[in-house]
Amino acid sequence: MAKILVTGGLGYIGSHTVVELVSAGYEPIIIDDLSNSNIKILDQLSKIIGFKPAFYQFDICDDKKLAEFTAAEPDIDGIIHFAAFKAVGESVHNPLKYYRNNIYSLVNLLAAYNGKPVKFVFSSSCTVYGQPDILPVTEDAPVKPAQSPYGNTKQIAEEILKDAVAAGNAQKVVALRYFNPVGAHETALIGELPNGVPQNLVPFITQTAIGKREKITVFGNDYNTKDGSCVRDYIHVVDLAKAHVAALKLMAGDNFSGYDVFNIGTGNGNTVLEIIAAFENTTGVKLNYEIGPRRNGDVEKVWGDVTKSSKVLNWTAALDIDIMMASAWEWEKYLSQNPS
Ligand code: NAD
Ligand code: WQD
Repeated sequence: MAKILVTGGLGYIGSHTVVELVSAGYEPIIIDDLSNSNIKILDQLSKIIGFKPAFYQFDICDDKKLAEFTAAEPDIDGIIHFAAFKAVGESVHNPLKYYRNNIYSLVNLLAAYNGKPVKFVFSSSCTVYGQPDILPVTEDAPVKPAQSPYGNTKQIAEEILKDAVAAGNAQKVVALRYFNPVGAHETALIGELPNGVPQNLVPFITQTAIGKREKITVFGNDYNTKDGSCVRDYIHVVDLAKAHVAALKLMAGDNFSGYDVFNIGTGNGNTVLEIIAAFENTTGVKLNYEIGPRRNGDVEKVWGDVTKSSKVLNWTAALDIDIMMASAWEWEKYLSQNPS
């Protein structure tokens, strides 16, 4: 069974990917320093997959610990590198924290596997496109100047990966540009664990619905969109997790070499108000929301062209907005009944 190192494997997307790796016949090996997760997620994962996956707790920026890991686990076939910090606002106030963790962890990992025939999947983001000139946005659209240090770490990381492939440090690399991951596993045993007040739309919706927040503010209704609120390409986290399995399979083929990049979205855009309506319709819970001013730095509208992912990666999203909202709600209810 091929062993896949999953860095950040107890995080939101990483934990769902561990589940999909096991269903596809891979053996996941997790590294996570728990800087944005909880050890309980390991037990939750075990309940879903039926066994406790191998788990190492350390910071990937720690070279010595990483060297010990590579000695202990010599036969890694692939790496899925999720570990990073992701709070856009915090990155503006504390950029060095983001450059250190997001860039140094990547460089350290590439150095540890320098020249080895390891397949490498990287978590990139549609944030690299900024506000695209043409929608849906394709992978060859220009990368726009980053709006935050966080966004910049994704752009720099993609450049590092290309350079590493060109120099032979890495052989097979796929960068996945995620659109907006939402929702949770159907068991409601794993999901997103927002740190403090959520910055993202769907956790804010579910926390408002459960009564943790008084109301949700829609950031602007005067954009040039169908109802004036911003448009995003929301993708169910389980579909997103499956894209990582597809990337490993693509790289296992003889035809793949070098570096490639794929959009991972549904190919459809929804406004903030449509998401709120979908949440209310699927759950039957009325949301207390108000229209507020625009949020600084928000792009007006973005959704992905997923033709390349469908044709080359052989992957398409299957789960719709209603399933995204229903599963996010089940997870919020689970959290409220099982406080940590
Ligand atoms: P997350 O914070 O839930 O998961 C990241 C995990 O990595 C956490 O469990 C954290 O404890 C761990 N981690 C962080 N730094 C580490 C380090 N140096 N060493 C070991 N472990 C470390 O985030 P997520 O939403 O699952 O995101 C995963 C990846 O996807 C990140 O790279 C993120 O930037 C990227 N991404 C996320 C989104 C999103 O909206 N969630 C969108 C686009 C891209
Ligand atoms: C979605 C929409 C908000 C909260 C961010 C990062 C991006 C990526 C995904 C990692 C926007 C609106 C939100 C609220 C609202 N992460 N909103 N009220 O901004 O598309 O992207 O997360 O790479 O880098 O920037 O996602 O969930 O924050 O917002 O009206 O309380 O919901 O204005 O239109 P975003 P989001």
